[in-house]
Amino acid sequence: MNLGDVTSRYMERTPGSRLLYERAVKVIPGGVSHNIRFFDPYPFYTVKAKGAYIWDVDGNRYCDYWMGHTGLILGHSPDVVVDALMKQIEYGTHFGTANKLELELAEKVIEIVPCAEMVRFCNSGTEATMYAVRLARAYTGRKRIVKITGGWHGGNTLLNKCVSLPLDKPESTGIAPEEQMYVDAIPFNDLEAFRRILSDKRGEIACIIMEPMLKGCIPADREYLKGLREESSRNDVVLIFDEVITGFRLSLGGAEEYYNVEADMVTMGKILGGGLPIGAVAGVSDIMERANPRKYGKGELCWIGGGTFSANPLTMTAGLATIRFLEENKERVYGKIGRLGDEARKQIDKLFRDHGIKHSVVGLGSLLNMFITSEDIEIRRYEDFKHIDHASTSRFYKALMLKSIFFLPEHTGAISYAHSDGDIKYLIESTEEVLVELKQS
Ligand SMILES: Cc1ncc(COP(=O)(O)O)c(C=O)c1O
Repeated sequence: MNLGDVTSRYMERTPGSRLLYERAVKVIPGGVSHNIRFFDPYPFYTVKAKGAYIWDVDGNRYCDYWMGHTGLILGHSPDVVVDALMKQIEYGTHFGTANKLELELAEKVIEIVPCAEMVRFCNSGTEATMYAVRLARAYTGRKRIVKITGGWHGGNTLLNKCVSLPLDKPESTGIAPEEQMYVDAIPFNDLEAFRRILSDKRGEIACIIMEPMLKGCIPADREYLKGLREESSRNDVVLIFDEVITGFRLSLGGAEEYYNVEADMVTMGKILGGGLPIGAVAGVSDIMERANPRKYGKGELCWIGGGTFSANPLTMTAGLATIRFLEENKERVYGKIGRLGDEARKQIDKLFRDHGIKHSVVGLGSLLNMFITSEDIEIRRYEDFKHIDHASTSRFYKALMLKSIFFLPEHTGAISYAHSDGDIKYLIESTEEVLVELKQS
């Protein structure tokens, strides 16, 4: 099955989506509201989602491993969230005032997230990371921000640097190089690189912001995170874990709990919103208090936390229902999704090996991604992405779509509590069929 076959079979199954996409490109640049949602020749259009499944306008049902950008740990529209939302809708969808729900969710975050002594809610992970680095600068009085090559922290101006190959080109036009001149990128899982920049830019670095799993699928070494912690403390640099993906996913307490390493601040989003839009920045009080307008006046206050819809009652309700469920069913949820993730990665890796296809299966816990590569490598940092055969990887993922399995091609997949052993078995069997078909082409 060559790429043309995969594409034409996809198009045969999705005529309704094709028509919608033809309309969309006329009114939405590229036809999508998030760049990564496009895949060739056009994305399918979803009409319904429940549990582990989504349905498109043409009536195709997919077992979904994209899970709303990995945000849906309990699956689509879990009853516990839907019921709570239905009740809240009676009382109001948006207040624009302080509300008890935000207090309750804040208290939950502080109870669960290791470094969180205070938290501010916003509407996206992008806002959260923008605010976190601003707070770190305000707190330290320093300008420089260190990030990781390949690290994605949303579309905010400062951090949208060195995210994708080729690294020597800007991620976006419309951003003046001067705006990012105090942002440096260093390789992942490389403590020496951090030590070098600390020494080169001694006394200038406000913070390091990093994903404990790069791109949501490449795990940090435990020793690396410990080393970042030690070096940050030694140099008065604020350590920020961007836990927008790993928060409440790697474990209830996120990567901090999983790795047993505490940051100074964490950014969160996705799962915390229980399927509704959210972002949050949390951390130790000393830093978070810099955002307290009752304590600091203009010129001293670090201004974070706008957002007409910040802490809106629907998001707070969905978040609370989700986090409470996770807390009450911690062993069951994390035990199950971790086991299914281990099984999927192990069996898929074996299939690629059995079929003699060079590859890399990456992930941890319930997160996974599969790449077809030009050589057998372990992907440990973004620089290793140069070995990925994007055309073949994309074809592999699209061929899975023809078997009614949806991963957003080349992006991290997530297993939810709604996935069953049968779903994973079907994923493994379908992977085998796809590899056979691809080899025959
Ligand atoms: C690690 C990380 N940080 C920040 C963001 C941005 O979050 P949002 O898409 O909610 O703005 C993302 C989004 O995928 C992410 O994966």
